[in-house]
Amino acid sequence: MELIHSGKVRDVYVDGDDLLLVASDRVSIYDVVLPTPVPGKGRILTQLSLWWFDRVGDLTPNHVISATDVPSQWAGRAIRCQRLDMVPVECIARGYLTGLGLASYQATGEVSGVPLPPGLGEAARLPEPVFTPTTKAATGHDEPMTYDDVADVAGAETAAELKRITLEVYRRGAALAAERGIIVADTKLEFGRARDGTLVLADEVLTPDSSRFWPAAEYEPGRPQHSLDKQYLRDWSATTGWDRKPPGPEIPPDIVAAMTARYTELYERLTAAP
Ligand SMILES: Nc1ncnc2c1ncn2[C@@H]1O[C@H](COP(=O)(O)OP(=O)(O)OP(=O)(O)O)[C@@H](O)[C@H]1O
Ligand SMILES: [Mg+2]
Repeated sequence: MELIHSGKVRDVYVDGDDLLLVASDRVSIYDVVLPTPVPGKGRILTQLSLWWFDRVGDLTPNHVISATDVPSQWAGRAIRCQRLDMVPVECIARGYLTGLGLASYQATGEVSGVPLPPGLGEAARLPEPVFTPTTKAATGHDEPMTYDDVADVAGAETAAELKRITLEVYRRGAALAAERGIIVADTKLEFGRARDGTLVLADEVLTPDSSRFWPAAEYEPGRPQHSLDKQYLRDWSATTGWDRKPPGPEIPPDIVAAMTARYTELYERLTAAP
Protein backbone atom coordinates (compact mmCIF):
# COMPACT_ATOMS: atom_id res chain seq x y z
CA MET A 1 0.00 0.00 0.00
CA GLU A 2 1.21 3.44 -0.89
CA LEU A 3 1.58 6.01 1.89
CA ILE A 4 0.25 9.26 0.36
CA HIS A 5 0.18 11.50 3.40
CA SER A 6 1.75 11.32 6.80
CA GLY A 7 -0.18 13.90 8.76
CA LYS A 8 0.53 15.18 12.19
CA VAL A 9 -1.53 12.40 13.71
CA ARG A 10 -2.63 10.02 10.98
CA ASP A 11 -1.04 8.17 8.09
CA VAL A 12 -3.06 7.89 4.92
CA TYR A 13 -2.58 4.91 2.57
CA VAL A 14 -4.13 4.19 -0.82
CA ASP A 15 -5.54 0.72 -1.40
CA GLY A 16 -7.10 0.49 -4.86
CA ASP A 17 -9.95 3.02 -4.90
CA ASP A 18 -10.02 3.23 -1.10
CA LEU A 19 -8.03 5.08 1.52
CA LEU A 20 -6.87 3.70 4.82
CA LEU A 21 -6.76 6.31 7.57
CA VAL A 22 -4.45 4.99 10.27
CA ALA A 23 -4.46 6.89 13.55
CA SER A 24 -1.18 6.89 15.46
CA ASP A 25 -0.58 7.68 19.13
CA ARG A 26 1.09 10.96 18.09
CA VAL A 27 -0.25 14.14 19.59
CA SER A 28 0.02 17.64 18.15
CA ILE A 29 -0.66 20.96 19.81
CA TYR A 30 -0.39 24.33 18.09
CA ASP A 31 0.32 22.31 14.90
CA VAL A 32 3.51 20.82 16.38
CA VAL A 33 3.80 17.05 16.94
CA LEU A 34 5.23 16.42 20.39
CA PRO A 35 8.08 13.88 20.67
CA THR A 36 6.19 11.69 23.17
CA PRO A 37 3.28 9.46 22.05
CA VAL A 38 0.14 8.98 24.14
CA PRO A 39 -0.44 5.19 24.31
CA GLY A 40 -3.89 4.09 23.20
CA LYS A 41 -4.82 7.44 21.70
CA GLY A 42 -5.02 6.25 18.07
CA ARG A 43 -7.34 3.41 18.98
CA ILE A 44 -9.59 5.58 21.18
CA LEU A 45 -9.92 8.28 18.51
CA THR A 46 -10.66 5.74 15.80
CA GLN A 47 -13.29 3.90 17.84
CA LEU A 48 -14.94 7.12 19.02
CA SER A 49 -15.08 8.48 15.48
CA LEU A 50 -16.73 5.27 14.27
CA TRP A 51 -19.26 5.48 17.11
CA TRP A 52 -20.18 9.01 16.05
CA PHE A 53 -20.30 8.20 12.33
CA ASP A 54 -23.03 5.68 13.24
CA ARG A 55 -24.94 8.31 15.17
CA VAL A 56 -24.97 10.97 12.47
CA GLY A 57 -25.56 8.62 9.53
CA ASP A 58 -29.07 9.98 8.95
CA LEU A 59 -27.77 13.56 8.71
CA THR A 60 -25.11 13.09 6.02
CA PRO A 61 -23.38 10.40 3.99
CA ASN A 62 -19.92 9.60 5.38
CA HIS A 63 -16.70 8.11 4.04
CA VAL A 64 -16.57 4.94 6.14
CA ILE A 65 -16.36 1.70 4.15
CA SER A 66 -15.15 -0.67 6.86
CA ALA A 67 -13.58 -0.61 10.30
CA THR A 68 -12.60 -4.28 10.12
CA ASP A 69 -11.35 -4.78 6.56
CA VAL A 70 -7.92 -3.35 7.42
CA PRO A 71 -4.44 -4.89 7.71
CA SER A 72 -4.12 -6.69 11.05
CA GLN A 73 -1.18 -4.59 12.27
CA TRP A 74 -3.51 -1.55 12.32
CA ALA A 75 -6.60 -3.32 13.63
CA GLY A 76 -8.62 -1.03 15.88
CA ARG A 77 -6.97 2.18 14.76
CA ALA A 78 -7.59 2.20 11.03
CA ILE A 79 -10.63 2.95 8.91
CA ARG A 80 -11.09 1.96 5.29
CA CYS A 81 -12.82 4.88 3.64
CA GLN A 82 -13.87 6.37 0.34
CA ARG A 83 -11.19 8.51 -1.28
CA LEU A 84 -12.67 11.98 -1.68
CA ASP A 85 -11.74 15.25 -3.25
CA MET A 86 -11.51 17.23 -0.02
CA VAL A 87 -13.17 20.63 0.35
CA PRO A 88 -10.35 22.91 1.59
CA VAL A 89 -12.30 24.24 4.57
CA GLU A 90 -12.24 23.27 8.23
CA CYS A 91 -15.92 23.35 9.11
CA ILE A 92 -16.08 24.46 12.73
CA ALA A 93 -19.22 24.71 14.84
CA ARG A 94 -19.08 26.43 18.22
CA GLY A 95 -21.66 26.34 20.97
CA TYR A 96 -19.32 27.90 23.53
CA LEU A 97 -16.61 30.52 23.22
CA THR A 98 -13.00 29.59 23.96
CA GLY A 99 -9.58 29.22 22.35
CA LEU A 100 -9.01 31.00 19.05
CA GLY A 101 -12.72 31.81 18.81
CA LEU A 102 -12.57 33.74 22.06
CA ALA A 103 -9.36 35.50 20.98
CA SER A 104 -10.96 36.60 17.72
CA TYR A 105 -14.12 37.77 19.51
CA GLN A 106 -12.09 39.79 22.00
CA ALA A 107 -10.19 41.47 19.15
CA THR A 108 -13.11 42.12 16.78
CA GLY A 109 -16.45 41.13 18.32
CA GLU A 110 -16.73 38.47 15.61
CA VAL A 111 -15.58 34.94 14.86
CA SER A 112 -15.08 34.12 11.16
CA GLY A 113 -17.23 37.15 10.34
CA VAL A 114 -20.09 36.06 12.61
CA PRO A 115 -20.97 38.92 14.99
CA LEU A 116 -21.60 37.81 18.58
CA PRO A 117 -23.33 39.69 21.39
CA PRO A 118 -21.19 41.89 23.65
CA GLY A 119 -20.03 40.84 27.11
CA LEU A 120 -19.10 37.22 26.44
CA GLY A 121 -16.08 35.77 28.26
CA GLU A 122 -14.11 32.54 28.57
CA ALA A 123 -16.31 29.46 28.05
CA ALA A 124 -19.50 31.50 27.60
CA ARG A 125 -22.40 29.61 26.11
CA LEU A 126 -23.47 31.17 22.79
CA PRO A 127 -27.12 32.08 22.21
CA GLU A 128 -27.06 29.49 19.42
CA PRO A 129 -24.32 27.42 17.77
CA VAL A 130 -22.40 29.27 15.06
CA PHE A 131 -20.51 28.15 11.95
CA THR A 132 -16.96 29.56 12.14
CA PRO A 133 -14.90 27.98 9.34
CA THR A 134 -11.17 28.28 8.82
CA THR A 135 -8.77 27.55 6.01
CA LYS A 136 -7.17 24.13 5.87
CA ALA A 137 -3.56 25.21 5.56
CA ALA A 138 -1.14 22.59 4.20
CA THR A 139 1.58 24.20 6.29
CA GLY A 140 1.33 26.76 9.04
CA HIS A 141 -1.79 27.72 10.98
CA ASP A 142 -5.38 27.79 9.80
CA GLU A 143 -6.89 31.24 9.30
CA PRO A 144 -10.52 32.26 9.90
CA MET A 145 -12.76 32.28 6.81
CA THR A 146 -16.01 34.18 6.53
CA TYR A 147 -19.05 32.45 5.10
CA ASP A 148 -18.52 34.44 1.88
CA ASP A 149 -14.91 33.20 1.74
CA VAL A 150 -16.26 29.62 1.89
CA ALA A 151 -18.72 30.41 -0.91
CA ASP A 152 -15.84 31.81 -3.01
CA VAL A 153 -13.74 28.68 -2.51
CA ALA A 154 -16.44 26.01 -2.63
CA GLY A 155 -19.42 27.63 -4.36
CA ALA A 156 -22.55 29.13 -2.81
CA GLU A 157 -24.57 25.91 -2.75
CA THR A 158 -21.76 23.92 -1.16
CA ALA A 159 -21.16 26.64 1.43
CA ALA A 160 -24.81 26.47 2.45
CA GLU A 161 -24.64 22.67 2.73
CA LEU A 162 -21.40 22.76 4.73
CA LYS A 163 -22.90 25.19 7.19
CA ARG A 164 -26.21 23.33 7.51
CA ILE A 165 -24.67 19.87 7.95
CA THR A 166 -21.91 21.09 10.28
CA LEU A 167 -24.44 22.71 12.60
CA GLU A 168 -26.71 19.64 12.46
CA VAL A 169 -23.86 17.28 13.32
CA TYR A 170 -22.77 19.60 16.14
CA ARG A 171 -26.33 19.80 17.52
CA ARG A 172 -26.74 16.04 17.39
CA GLY A 173 -23.36 15.49 19.04
CA ALA A 174 -24.00 18.10 21.71
CA ALA A 175 -27.42 16.60 22.51
CA LEU A 176 -26.12 13.02 22.80
CA ALA A 177 -23.15 14.14 24.87
CA ALA A 178 -25.41 16.23 27.13
CA GLU A 179 -27.40 13.09 28.01
CA ARG A 180 -24.09 11.71 29.25
CA GLY A 181 -23.11 14.79 31.25
CA ILE A 182 -20.63 16.15 28.72
CA ILE A 183 -20.58 19.51 26.97
CA VAL A 184 -19.28 19.68 23.40
CA ALA A 185 -17.89 23.21 23.30
CA ASP A 186 -16.89 23.12 19.65
CA THR A 187 -15.99 20.73 16.87
CA LYS A 188 -14.25 20.65 13.50
CA LEU A 189 -15.49 18.64 10.54
CA GLU A 190 -14.09 18.00 7.07
CA PHE A 191 -16.00 17.13 3.94
CA GLY A 192 -15.12 15.93 0.47
CA ARG A 193 -16.76 15.16 -2.85
CA ALA A 194 -17.27 11.62 -4.04
CA ARG A 195 -16.80 10.82 -7.74
CA ASP A 196 -20.53 11.22 -8.35
CA GLY A 197 -20.43 14.69 -6.77
CA THR A 198 -22.04 13.76 -3.44
CA LEU A 199 -20.86 15.84 -0.49
CA VAL A 200 -19.54 13.35 2.08
CA LEU A 201 -18.50 13.75 5.73
CA ALA A 202 -14.85 12.65 6.02
CA ASP A 203 -11.86 12.65 8.35
CA GLU A 204 -12.71 12.13 12.04
CA VAL A 205 -15.86 13.11 13.92
CA LEU A 206 -16.29 14.52 17.43
CA THR A 207 -13.01 13.21 18.77
CA PRO A 208 -10.89 14.92 21.44
CA ASP A 209 -8.43 15.92 18.68
CA SER A 210 -11.15 17.73 16.73
CA SER A 211 -13.43 18.94 19.50
CA ARG A 212 -13.54 20.29 23.04
CA PHE A 213 -15.33 18.29 25.72
CA TRP A 214 -16.13 19.53 29.22
CA PRO A 215 -17.80 17.67 32.10
CA ALA A 216 -21.15 19.46 32.51
CA ALA A 217 -21.10 19.02 36.29
CA GLU A 218 -18.00 21.21 36.57
CA TYR A 219 -18.98 23.79 33.96
CA GLU A 220 -18.59 27.35 35.15
CA PRO A 221 -18.27 30.15 32.61
CA GLY A 222 -15.62 32.82 33.18
CA ARG A 223 -12.72 30.44 33.74
CA PRO A 224 -10.92 27.70 31.78
CA GLN A 225 -12.81 24.39 31.99
CA HIS A 226 -11.69 20.94 33.07
CA SER A 227 -11.21 19.45 29.61
CA LEU A 228 -11.32 15.85 28.39
CA ASP A 229 -9.38 16.73 25.25
CA LYS A 230 -6.10 18.19 24.02
CA GLN A 231 -6.61 21.40 25.99
CA TYR A 232 -5.10 19.56 28.95
CA LEU A 233 -1.80 19.31 27.04
CA ARG A 234 -1.96 22.92 25.85
CA ASP A 235 -2.40 24.01 29.47
CA TRP A 236 0.49 21.80 30.61
CA SER A 237 2.71 23.09 27.77
CA ALA A 238 2.10 26.66 28.93
CA THR A 239 3.81 25.77 32.21
CA THR A 240 7.00 24.67 30.39
CA GLY A 241 7.87 28.02 28.82
CA TRP A 242 7.72 26.44 25.35
CA ASP A 243 7.43 29.05 22.55
CA ARG A 244 5.03 26.87 20.50
CA LYS A 245 7.63 26.38 17.78
CA PRO A 246 9.17 23.01 16.84
CA PRO A 247 10.57 21.00 18.45
CA GLY A 248 7.90 20.53 21.09
CA PRO A 249 8.73 19.47 24.64
CA GLU A 250 8.84 15.84 25.83
CA ILE A 251 5.69 15.05 27.80
CA PRO A 252 6.48 13.76 31.31
CA PRO A 253 5.07 10.30 32.21
CA ASP A 254 2.47 11.59 34.67
CA ILE A 255 1.04 13.96 32.05
CA VAL A 256 0.99 11.16 29.44
CA ALA A 257 -0.87 8.94 31.91
CA ALA A 258 -3.34 11.73 32.69
CA MET A 259 -4.00 12.24 28.97
CA THR A 260 -4.67 8.54 28.41
CA ALA A 261 -6.97 8.58 31.45
CA ARG A 262 -8.90 11.59 30.15
CA TYR A 263 -9.30 10.19 26.66
CA THR A 264 -10.41 6.85 28.12
CA GLU A 265 -12.87 8.56 30.47
CA LEU A 266 -14.33 10.54 27.58
CA TYR A 267 -14.69 7.45 25.41
CA GLU A 268 -16.30 5.42 28.17
CA ARG A 269 -18.70 8.14 29.24
CA LEU A 270 -19.83 8.92 25.69
CA THR A 271 -20.26 5.36 24.48
CA ALA A 272 -21.93 4.04 27.65
CA ALA A 273 -25.73 3.91 27.51
CA PRO A 274 -27.10 7.16 28.96
N1 LIG B 1 -12.08 10.44 2.79
C1 LIG B 1 -10.98 11.17 2.65
N2 LIG B 1 -10.44 11.35 1.40
C2 LIG B 1 -9.30 12.08 1.24
N3 LIG B 1 -8.62 12.67 2.26
C3 LIG B 1 -9.11 12.53 3.51
C4 LIG B 1 -10.31 11.79 3.76
N4 LIG B 1 -10.57 11.84 5.11
C5 LIG B 1 -9.57 12.58 5.64
N5 LIG B 1 -8.70 13.01 4.71
C6 LIG B 1 -7.46 13.79 4.91
O1 LIG B 1 -6.50 12.91 5.50
C7 LIG B 1 -5.61 13.64 6.35
C8 LIG B 1 -5.57 13.00 7.72
O2 LIG B 1 -4.35 13.22 8.35
P1 LIG B 1 -4.15 14.15 9.64
O3 LIG B 1 -5.44 14.71 10.11
O4 LIG B 1 -3.25 13.44 10.55
O5 LIG B 1 -3.34 15.29 8.93
P2 LIG B 1 -2.95 16.69 9.54
O6 LIG B 1 -1.56 16.68 10.00
O7 LIG B 1 -4.05 17.16 10.41
O8 LIG B 1 -2.86 17.48 8.25
P3 LIG B 1 -3.98 18.24 7.56
O9 LIG B 1 -3.64 19.67 7.89
O10 LIG B 1 -3.76 17.85 6.13
O11 LIG B 1 -5.30 17.77 8.16
C9 LIG B 1 -6.11 15.07 6.36
O12 LIG B 1 -5.39 15.82 5.43
C10 LIG B 1 -7.57 14.93 5.89
O13 LIG B 1 -8.04 16.10 5.27
MG1 LIG C 1 -6.19 16.76 10.35
